Amino acid sequence: MLTVLKSLETLWLWREQQDGKDIGFVPTMGALHEGHLSLIEKAKSENDQVIVSIFVNPIQFAPNEDYDTYPRPLTKDREKLEKIGVDALWAPNALEMYPEGFETSVSVAGITQLLEGAYRPHHFDGVTTVVNKLFNQIRPTRAYFGEKDYQQLQVISKMVRDMNINTKVIGCPIHRDKSGLALSSRNAYLSPEQLDIARRLNSVLKSAPDLMRTMDIAEAETKMKNILGQAGFDKIDYVVIRNAETLKPVKNKREEEMRVLAAVWLDKTRLIDNMGI
Ligand code: PAF
Repeated sequence: MLTVLKSLETLWLWREQQDGKDIGFVPTMGALHEGHLSLIEKAKSENDQVIVSIFVNPIQFAPNEDYDTYPRPLTKDREKLEKIGVDALWAPNALEMYPEGFETSVSVAGITQLLEGAYRPHHFDGVTTVVNKLFNQIRPTRAYFGEKDYQQLQVISKMVRDMNINTKVIGCPIHRDKSGLALSSRNAYLSPEQLDIARRLNSVLKSAPDLMRTMDIAEAETKMKNILGQAGFDKIDYVVIRNAETLKPVKNKREEEMRVLAAVWLDKTRLIDNMGI
């Protein structure tokens, strides 16, 4: 049965009762889709107990972003968690997470300034602050993050290494629909026509290895940007090939592990995707 926890007191009581057990944790902002459910299945297979958090974290959204309109289908989410056999749901409200007088921020330098960080300046501080709090609140053995937010996964892994947090961060492959479109709660904002265009994103990223056989990285990036423009995306924030761990520009493509990453817009909806090369 799913135990729903809404206050820190009940969460800590639940956590005390799990002493000695392996706790798998899947942090989410809700609007659960197959991608989240695959993280939960993995957590279930590797731990004694699985806890999922649903918290739309206000401090990782900029004032012009979609915090107010972000989907919050809590009843449906609860049903999904019950059906899949999650043990506990941690669903605090904003005041429980950030009581009056809250003034602390957790910030990772370096990698957070690149790519997403350049377009969403305070985003990663909001993410690392809330994930740090969630890790302190839950003290999970393992925590599961989708590779769809690839930079977020690298940033959180770095925070955990730097701060000696005793939780193993596990990155899980992107869940895609049949066309290759990465599943995202924000896909719900797209019209059928926009979805058709969105489905092109992954096929363009898939072309990166081939392009790199005949051209250098800068040329391959320009080529992909042009194809995305022609496919109908309204704006392309970036489409780049980077070192897979640091996300810095590649110095030696024969020696470094690489990843292609993109952020694009369809009207007011921003989509991200990435793939290993
Ligand atoms: O990836 C997300 O859904 C969020 O950024 C996270 C990790 C739950 C923090 O709010």
